Formats: sequence, C-alpha cells, structure tokens
Amino acid sequence: PRTIYLTRHGESIHNIEGRIGGDAELSENGRKFGNALAKYIKEQNISKLRVWTSWLKRTIQTAEGIDAPQERWKALNEIDAGVCEEMTYAEIKEKFPEDFASRDQNKFSFRYPRGESYEDLVARLEPVIMELERQGNVLLIAHQAVLRCLMAYFLDEPSSEYDVIPPTTKNNPMCNRIRNELPYMEVPLHTIVKLTPVAYGCRVEYVPIDV
Ligand code: G3H
Repeated sequence: PRTIYLTRHGESIHNIEGRIGGDAELSENGRKFGNALAKYIKEQNISKLRVWTSWLKRTIQTAEGIDAPQERWKALNEIDAGVCEEMTYAEIKEKFPEDFASRDQNKFSFRYPRGESYEDLVARLEPVIMELERQGNVLLIAHQAVLRCLMAYFLDEPSSEYDVIPPTTKNNPMCNRIRNELPYMEVPLHTIVKLTPVAYGCRVEYVPIDV
C-alpha cells in the first residue's frame, strides 16, 4: 500500500519569535531539518515519491534537498490570519481582545478578520484531498493548521489507530470530533507523520527527526 508522509516545514524565523502567518525564511535549525529530512527520505528509497509543498518559502526551502519531483499547491498555504498575520498571540490579545476571546470560544468556526477559519481551510483543502486520494507515495510539506485538517480527514475512519485525538463518539464525527478537536491537534515541528491506509482506516506513525 502507498504511504502519505506529512510534515511541517522546518523551524522558521517566525516560529522562533512566536509569530503566526507571514512568509518567513527557515532558521538555521529549520535548514538542518530540511537536510535531515532529505537524508531520511533518500534512505527510505520510496518508489515514485512525489513531493508537495505550499507556496510559502518555509515549505519550499524545507524540500530543497529532496531528490524527487515536486509540486507547489497554493491550497496548502497556512491558514490566513488576516489582520493578525505576523503577530504574536500576546499582540493579538492586546490589539484584538474580542477576537482573541471569541477564537477561544469556537476555534473551528472563528474567522480571522479579513482571513480564514479552520472551517474555510477544510473547504480550501478539498481539491488537495481529492488529488491525494488518487496518488501513490507522497511527501507533503505544509503547515500546522493545514496538517490538522488533513490528518483529521485521513484519520477519521472507524479503524484508524489514532492516539492524538482520544477516541470519542463516532456517531457524528463532523460535529463533535472534528469541530472540537481538530484545531487543537498537536503537530510538532521536525516530525514526520506516516499514514498508511489499512482496511477502513489509516495506520499512523510519528517519526521524530533529530536536528
Ligand atoms: O497559524 C499558526 C498555527 O500553525 C496554527 O495555530 O493553533 O493558533 O490555529 P493555531
């Protein structure tokens, strides 16, 4: 069976400063992750691998050393934080206290002023998911909010092994599990998430990459 490899970009300058959004370059650590990722992928010797990134520098730089055909998807760009782009959470809380509070109330539906919500992001990712379903082995390098949505899609199957979201009621996954838990899933930096389809689900494996 094919495998989908998901990872966030390497650490960026904005990650170091706690800033969201923007189009920052990788930090030195982030570049080391890019190199280590290329080495890992080479060692795995994955048949007909394709690499998908977003349009943002941090994913493209992370993919730089990987020897495989690459595609750029604008739809894989990070959630658009609108007026809050490139701010820290402390700055958002200070400048937009009401938005900050309402995001806390309903993170899935909250739309950043002049930006997007997680709900918007799920819709934006639909074509990516459709195409991903038709592909063989893919390494997809994207962003935390985007990967939360993709993982929720691939792992929301009855027999998925999934220990990030604790098992909850399966009856109304879209209403309960996705809305409540998707925006809070942990997708750590410098970790590859391997998804392998099994009958009616996905096996998930986390491969931390030391830099
Ligand atoms: O926008 C930056 C993050 O990747 C997502 O953060 O937990 O505030 O949605 P969040």
